[in-house]
Amino acid sequence: MEQAQASVSTALPPPGASLIPGTPLVEMRDICIAFGGIHAVDHVNVDLMPGEVVGLLGHNGAGKSTLIKILAGAYKADSGEIRINGEAAGITNPRDAKRYGIETIYQTLALADNVDAAANLFLGREIRTAWGTLDDVAMEAATRGVMGRLNPNFRKFKEPVRGLSGGQRQSVAIARAIHFNAKILIMDEPTAALGPQETAQVAELIKQLKAEGIGIFLISHDIHDVFDLADRVSVMKNGKLVGTARTTDVTQDEVLGMIILGKVPPGALAGPGGMQ
Ligand SMILES: Nc1ncnc2c1ncn2[C@@H]1O[C@H](COP(=O)(O)OP(=O)(O)O)[C@@H](O)[C@H]1O
Ligand SMILES: [Mg+2]
Repeated sequence: MEQAQASVSTALPPPGASLIPGTPLVEMRDICIAFGGIHAVDHVNVDLMPGEVVGLLGHNGAGKSTLIKILAGAYKADSGEIRINGEAAGITNPRDAKRYGIETIYQTLALADNVDAAANLFLGREIRTAWGTLDDVAMEAATRGVMGRLNPNFRKFKEPVRGLSGGQRQSVAIARAIHFNAKILIMDEPTAALGPQETAQVAELIKQLKAEGIGIFLISHDIHDVFDLADRVSVMKNGKLVGTARTTDVTQDEVLGMIILGKVPPGALAGPGGMQ
């Protein structure tokens, strides 16, 4: 174990080898997908451990969303392998992904604006009474339970979510994901539309989920959104993985160099397509 730790900054393990001890929640290996002639994701490897936040960084068009859509079952990879808890996973549609405990929160949140938090939590998966009617009491109680864990200051249980702030809406979307036992949460540009205060609120939510052992892929084109929250960052450029680094082993400037120039600093492990 000690040797594996030391190897991060000295002798690097071979490409594709895990940087971290223990069984990863997620291993995406040698993933490729092309649209027409465009290699949107080109031989990419990423991992995620329980309770870990991995920032997936890169310019717009780098392939970040496409990569995570493969994990979420929205796209099928042309080649490559996904392992969940160390075992090969067959993910061919979003339902499969949910079965593996993978939940995705897209930038748009996909909330139903005209109904309240509880109705959003149970959208399409409503609790019903023995008579077949909607069990609003049970759904509100469950919603209060999850929100109490996530965002204890949340009070707007009776309001349509249209009236909530961006941060509150984000917590409803996260509550919906974790209530149904997400172990792996994918957040694609979660703070892109939020102000500083609400961004801080989302950061608190992420820390809470991390403490509960949930693994999170946090996707952003902006290093400032993720560097402080992430345990590791994986950087993509033109569909390829530039490299992966622990945030304690690299500076923000070095990560910017990875994003902009594709340059791999000494503290990072180069991806299969990474340029040294
Ligand atoms: N459904 C699609 N059809 C065709 N091209 C696509 C599709 N989805 C993504 N792409 C292309 O794949 C590349 C990566 O896009 P994307 O994964 O959205 O990047 P990012 O999320 O890093 O901004 C881009 O060139 C984009 O135009
Ligand atoms: Mg994207």
